[in-house]
Amino acid sequence: MPSPIIIAPSILSADMAHLQEEVESIEDSADWLQLDVMDGKFVPNTAFPFSLAQTIKTKLPLDIHLMVRDPATYAREFLTLRPMNVTFHAEAVKDTDSRRALIEAIHRGGALAGIAINPPTPLSAVDDVLGGVDVLLVMSVNPGFGGQSFIGSVLPKVTEARKRFPKLMIQMDGGVDDKTAPLCIKAGADNLVAGSYIFRSKDRTHAIASLRG
Ligand code: DX5
Repeated sequence: MPSPIIIAPSILSADMAHLQEEVESIEDSADWLQLDVMDGKFVPNTAFPFSLAQTIKTKLPLDIHLMVRDPATYAREFLTLRPMNVTFHAEAVKDTDSRRALIEAIHRGGALAGIAINPPTPLSAVDDVLGGVDVLLVMSVNPGFGGQSFIGSVLPKVTEARKRFPKLMIQMDGGVDDKTAPLCIKAGADNLVAGSYIFRSKDRTHAIASLRG
C-alpha cells in the first residue's frame, strides 16, 4: 500500500508582505510547510533568514530546506524552531564524515534529516548516506528561485532510489504542478514541494488537492 502523499507548500512564492495570512491560507489543506533558506552563496539568492523564519506562526510541521554553503551552522539555529525535517544539499557537504555528523546533529535536534541532490548530481553521489537519512530530496529545478520549469530528466533518480529504498521518503521540489505531480508520484516520490503552482492559484485548497494524485 503506497504511503499517502505529503504536500509541502514552499512559501518562497508567497506574498512576503502578508506572510502570516499566506501561511494560514494553506494550513487546512497542506501537510508540511517548507521554508527555502538561501544564503546568497550556495545559490544566487537569499531567502528566509532565521529572523524572518522565527516570526512564522503555524500548526504545520516545518520543513527547512537549507540551500546554504554552511548547513551545519544554519541547522543549529533552525533546529530551535523544532522543525519536522531539515534538509541539506549534498553539493554543500561533500565528505561522508561531515554528512554523517550533520545527520546525527539534526537527529539529536529532534528532526528528520534530509539530503538534497540538484539536477546535475547523480544519485550515486549520496550512496554513502542514503541508508542513514529520512528524506531524499530530488530537485527538479536548479535551486535558487521559484517559478522555474520542471526538469523531467531527474525522474530516473527517483525511480532508482525508490527501488533501492522502499521505505525512504522521497521528496521532489521545483516546477511541481498538477501536470508534473503525477510523473513524480509514478516515479516513486511521496512528498511534493510546490510553491508558485499553489500560491498563484485562486483556489489553493483545490490546487493542493490536485497534487495528491
Ligand atoms: C528552488 C526552490 C523552489 C521552491 C518551489 O530553490 O526550492 O523549488 O521551493 O518553487 P516552484 O514550485 O515555484 O518551482
